Amino acid sequence: MNKRFGILTAGGDCPGLNATIRAIVKTAHEKYHMEAIGFQHGYKGILDRDYRVLTPESVSGILTVGGTILGTSREKVFKNEEGDNRDKTAIIREVYDELDLDCLVVLGGNGSNKKAYQLQEAVGLNVIGLPKTIDNDIVGTEQCFGFSSAVAIATEAIDRIHTTAHSHNRIMIIELMGHHAGWLALYAGVAGGGDVILMPEIPYDIDHVARAINKRAEQGKEFSIVVVAEGALSKEEAAMKKSKRKEYLLNSPSAGYRVARAIEKATGLESRITVLGYVQRGGTPNAWDRILSTKMGSYAADMLHAEDYGRMVALIDGRVGSVDLAVVADKVRYVEEDDRILMAARSIGTCLGDE
Ligand code: F6P
Repeated sequence: MNKRFGILTAGGDCPGLNATIRAIVKTAHEKYHMEAIGFQHGYKGILDRDYRVLTPESVSGILTVGGTILGTSREKVFKNEEGDNRDKTAIIREVYDELDLDCLVVLGGNGSNKKAYQLQEAVGLNVIGLPKTIDNDIVGTEQCFGFSSAVAIATEAIDRIHTTAHSHNRIMIIELMGHHAGWLALYAGVAGGGDVILMPEIPYDIDHVARAINKRAEQGKEFSIVVVAEGALSKEEAAMKKSKRKEYLLNSPSAGYRVARAIEKATGLESRITVLGYVQRGGTPNAWDRILSTKMGSYAADMLHAEDYGRMVALIDGRVGSVDLAVVADKVRYVEEDDRILMAARSIGTCLGDE
């Protein structure tokens, strides 16, 4: 055996994690004769010394399986719960040395890739990151695996809601995930023909939303589809001081419910709300995510071989490459005003809540 590396999945799960693990382990083993050690439940598995050897045989048959065979958690590496006096970063370094690892491969979202970078800086681990999240909000990559599947699931849900909206002449509000970014709502909203799409990047004015819905009613279309990202904010909410907004949101229903309430008040039309929730994260990856995961995973193994550490695998100009983790850490990729899909949505008359 040549190199030996650790691998973990951290943060929220998503379709494509297993496909990526499979590609990394198979490529590393078959092409480079490296050994993979899989940690259970993210960074927690390192702290608990909960690991096992992963072989091409043990990752066989997982390409299409949802979730992650390694389990995941949102373990805080640089923070301790009350009463926990462990020096977690020191333990991680200890386990890394005990196992004689050459690198730690982290399949994670923003938080987990940031932790990988911080571990490199704090205790000198060699790390490689991979971008997973249905939120698609990681800086440095055009796409994260998991996103395409989530868009497909959300689009199918919108399609189904469309027919019942039409039958009952109702305003249907569909709340989608995305954390503080609007990628999922924008893509699924456009793919599902949403009449209104509300996302965190564009604080909405309920009068504009009501006007768009009423205009459709005047044209004889008495139903409307309103796609709301979970992080969407009204103009008033966005204008609040951060601390006040945090408290207000903690004590308020989720974005979809707030929008539904405001629409009913402004239009008097009957509204119904669907919060799609974890359906968006579960189940088998679609074909695109299987391909992206396989490309990114095998590329990560090539990076291991080349000792190209401190970087995250990324999709750049449609090709798989990598970016420095320093560029990725502590940032969020938001939808920009000049995004082609956002521009297209505006062009076809979709209401984005700001006009
Ligand atoms: O995986 C990202 C994400 O799906 C976000 O869109 C969402 O806000 C968050 O995870 C919720 O996940 P959890 O309940 O597991 O913290």
